[in-house]
Amino acid sequence: MTILTPTSEAGGLDLGVLSQLAGELFATLPNGDPSPAFGGGRSLGQALPDMAATTPERELDLREAAVPQLEAAPAGQAHAAQAPRQGGVAQGVPQAYAAALPLPSDSAPPQAASPGPDAAAGYYFLQDAWITRADADSSADAGLSDLSDDRIGARADALPGAASLQAVLGQIFSSSPTRSSESQDGYYFVQTEQVHAHEARAGEPQLVERSIPGGFDVNAVRRDFPILAERVNGRPLVWLDNAATTHKPKAVIERLSYFYEHENSNIHRAAHELAARATDAYEGARDTVARFLGAASSEEIIFVRGATEGINLVAKSWGQQHVGEGDEIIVSHLEHHANIVPWQQLAAAKGAKLRVIPVDDTGQVLLDEYRKLLNPRTRLVAVTQVSNALGTITPIHEIVAMAKAAGARTLVDGAQSVSHLRVNLQALGADFFVFSGHKVFAPTGIGVVYGRREVLEQMPPWQGGGNMIADVTFERTLFNPPPARFEAGTGNIADAVGLGAALDYVQRIGLERIAKYEHDLLEYGLHGLRSIPGLRLIGTAAQRTSVMSFVLPGHRTEDIGRALNEAGIAVRSGHHCAQPILRRFGVEASVRPSLAFYNTCEEIDHLVAEVRRIARQSN
Ligand SMILES: Cc1ncc(COP(=O)(O)O)c(C=O)c1O
Repeated sequence: MTILTPTSEAGGLDLGVLSQLAGELFATLPNGDPSPAFGGGRSLGQALPDMAATTPERELDLREAAVPQLEAAPAGQAHAAQAPRQGGVAQGVPQAYAAALPLPSDSAPPQAASPGPDAAAGYYFLQDAWITRADADSSADAGLSDLSDDRIGARADALPGAASLQAVLGQIFSSSPTRSSESQDGYYFVQTEQVHAHEARAGEPQLVERSIPGGFDVNAVRRDFPILAERVNGRPLVWLDNAATTHKPKAVIERLSYFYEHENSNIHRAAHELAARATDAYEGARDTVARFLGAASSEEIIFVRGATEGINLVAKSWGQQHVGEGDEIIVSHLEHHANIVPWQQLAAAKGAKLRVIPVDDTGQVLLDEYRKLLNPRTRLVAVTQVSNALGTITPIHEIVAMAKAAGARTLVDGAQSVSHLRVNLQALGADFFVFSGHKVFAPTGIGVVYGRREVLEQMPPWQGGGNMIADVTFERTLFNPPPARFEAGTGNIADAVGLGAALDYVQRIGLERIAKYEHDLLEYGLHGLRSIPGLRLIGTAAQRTSVMSFVLPGHRTEDIGRALNEAGIAVRSGHHCAQPILRRFGVEASVRPSLAFYNTCEEIDHLVAEVRRIARQSN
């Protein structure tokens, strides 16, 4: 589909006027405002000053970004995915936004039409958001056989709607692969887009360079996420809680429906058609994850519930086997509790020590201090790629390389990185990498452990049951090779398929394009927040993504979260399951707006205006 994007140079059209007209039109639609126009915010044209001035009329080819439909819509009803994407006027965040920032300090704060019943009363689940340090302190505590696998080689003959499914999945990878190395210099997002393509379950991945055509049309992207049209307390929903979880595009929602309508079955062993379809879908998703991460093989990809379960798997299997008395495990001060507690438990059980890489006052890890911690007793270095509380992007390539040089294994927590940065496990060289599907536009309850094949092959199972066995007698059990060895019982089949659809969706947009847009959006947001008197940003590292953690002295973080909710804005307030790093900055909790690629400048204006209003109120 080729769309002509109107600009001020195109037939005298003006972005600001267009945006205003569109806002008025959408405001007349019941609950149907895909392009929220906030009363107190600036118009899109104003928010994007550079676009009108510098963007020539251009053709935006959305074939790649479009969400293909699954089945023909009922007669007379246009399928949402077929709806023309015309009307999207925002084409990325302008480069010169900062210079053009008339901050919305004087604009009247938008009035909530009708605050929801729960807003004032407070939510029961926020009770721990303002805990005391004393409360927190009191709870601290700390013969494999490679039998060949007998799965049915499932290949469904003809799926109903197979052609349309093919269209859903799309042709993501181009041919003519060429190798290229990953740039480590400059901004993390200024890299040639690389796509990892490989023959499923065989051989080395091949990095395929793809061009990045066109810009980034945030309004087109937003229409892929139905929930973004919700209203909260009478206001358009502004979802700035993406570090907690992300919303799901239609491509994922429809893929799940398709699975339950056409493919649902248990997998691997039954000799019937639906088992073959479900097995193909599940194993296809594993292949997609392997490509997305640049793994050498799909057999290095284990499905789990999420990052937390993934880290526990590694601790319970590899850790039990390899960590002993006097050994050391290194984590960083930035870690989520999920990457602290399992190691603390393992260390307590084995008489090992947990060592912590300190951070500087911006929230970046200190590599020199890290170097001093490495020694021959270091068994594992487990570090996050992006901090969920501060947004810091850690120098993960250096961290992994230094650990390897010291003879230690490495685990990278990618829970906060996979939706913002391209991950290339071949370049990274980590032994383990974990992430959660729900933070990358996939369903909850599905996640991934990547493990290097030679490491996984030596690891014992961590759970026993069906699927992970090759042969069982009352005297002994022979285990399957990885990944089945680590997937005991019936897994989350449908949501694994949904994860595959989510990663395909992200690939179609392009991680480099996403990273660039989000970087500009983050700078725009930080600029706005910094201008609010008294506001203190928590974490100011030069390399960061998505997260804008802050406190406002005199205002409880929980109260700020509640006040923002009344204005339709969802942010996280509390300790973000990362208490050690917040305490490093002298706070027990922060307010944490966090961005995804479907957020806009207008939403940030709205956030900044509301926080400014709250800051003006005396407590
Ligand atoms: C950096 C990091 N690691 C691990 C986790 C745990 O993820 P999950 O709760 O999906 O298992 C999170 C969740 O917020 C996170 O941000």
